[in-house]
Amino acid sequence: MKISDETIDRVKSAGSVVFFSGAGISAESGIPIFRGKDGIWNKLKPEELANFDAFLRNPQMVWEWYEHRKKIILESKPNSAHLAIAEMQNFISNVIVITQNIDNLHKRAGSKIVYELHGNIERNYCIKCHTMYNREIEFIDGIPKCKCGGLIRPDIVWFGEFLPQDQFNASEKASGECDVFFIIGTSAVVYPAASLIYTAKAGKAYLIEVNIESTEISHIVNESYFGQAGEVLPEILEKIKN
Ligand code: APR
Repeated sequence: MKISDETIDRVKSAGSVVFFSGAGISAESGIPIFRGKDGIWNKLKPEELANFDAFLRNPQMVWEWYEHRKKIILESKPNSAHLAIAEMQNFISNVIVITQNIDNLHKRAGSKIVYELHGNIERNYCIKCHTMYNREIEFIDGIPKCKCGGLIRPDIVWFGEFLPQDQFNASEKASGECDVFFIIGTSAVVYPAASLIYTAKAGKAYLIEVNIESTEISHIVNESYFGQAGEVLPEILEKIKN
């Protein structure tokens, strides 16, 4: 993949670079994406699995699904795209990751500033007393209960729920102030997360998309690289290092 001089000059001279990522950046780690030909939502219904009412109606089923995804995620590891972004911290003064993913792979790759817009599958909390639980939850009849007796749920933002305000506010600030805004592996159809692309555009950011196909926002970016994130990001890193 040919990386343009414009991309390299922009990244090298940037005061701050934001990497906005979606499920596509973790596809090469073996974690299924949501939309497109092999998307999760082609086979399963988000309204049955990823919303609070569905959880109250059938917590066992929702938990079974998240435990299945957690198993895949815990067996996966950061791929060359996550690792390249983490290594760019050594060459760019301010690197910020804003992710829609719940798989923790950016942090495991070594990225230090990671805003998680949709939560993290390794965290859970009680819906009654809001006690946080990490991995140490025990299941009784397929449902984990808090010591207060309340139901424990995954710390994941479901459809129709608010994003964590601190993460979103910090993400909006970073997007509006950055010099380069990468959009990696996202269909850019879920809001308010996707609004950050427009916040960046309204600021001074140079927008660079990395995706295997064109998306809803391909027409507003400055450059698009149509390829696997695991190939494009390491190539950009190599050019920056030299
Ligand atoms: N490299 C780059 N892009 C890729 C790759 C790859 N190897 N593989 C797939 N893609 C692209 C697809 O072309 C698609 O545009 O990644 C994108 C994945 O889109 P979605 O599956 O819609 O995932 P995402 O955009 O993260 O979804 C947003 O929707 O279901 C909710 O909360 C969930 O955070 C998720 C949100």
